[in-house]
Amino acid sequence: MMLELTVNGRVHSVEINPGEMLLDVLRRLGYKSVRRSCDNASCGNCTVLLDGKPILSCTTFAARATGHKIETVESLEKDGILHPIQESLLETGGAQCGFCIPGFALTAKALLEENPEPTEEEIREALNGNLCRCTGYESQIRAILNITHKRGGLSND
Ligand code: FES
Ligand code: FES
Repeated sequence: MMLELTVNGRVHSVEINPGEMLLDVLRRLGYKSVRRSCDNASCGNCTVLLDGKPILSCTTFAARATGHKIETVESLEKDGILHPIQESLLETGGAQCGFCIPGFALTAKALLEENPEPTEEEIREALNGNLCRCTGYESQIRAILNITHKRGGLSND
C-alpha cells in the first residue's frame, strides 16, 4: 500500500507492507538516527516525535503516522548549528557512544516544550523509558537542567 509520511517537514510517498512498523519505514527512507535496539518497546532508542509527542516507532504502525507530523533528530540541527539540547548533552558528557542520544534528545525536546522549567524529578520521570548503556544518566539529567537555567530558550533558528 502507498502511504504519505511527513518527516521533518518533508513529504514522502512510500510503499509499505500492511502492518509495517514506523521504525522500519523511517530507516528505509534514510532516517538512520531512528535506532533499532530492543524492538519491543523496552529501550526508547527508536523514539520519534509524532505531532510533538514522543512515541516508540518500533511498536507504532507506519499507517498510523499518516496525516501527522513526524520529527526525527535530523531536524534538530539547523545550518550546521546544533540544537541547544544537543549542545548541552555535549557539554555535560551526556553523549558518549551516542546510540541512545536521538531518543533522549527528542524526549527532552518534547518535555521542555511542554514544561520549560521541569524539576529534576520531572526530568527523570520523562526520561524513564530511555535506556543508556554508557552514562549512568546523571550527565544527561544535568544537560537538561542546565538548559532550564540558560536564557535563549530552545531555538537554534
Ligand atoms: S527499539 Fe523501540 S523501544 Fe527499543
Ligand atoms: S551514550 Fe551510549 S548508549 Fe547512551
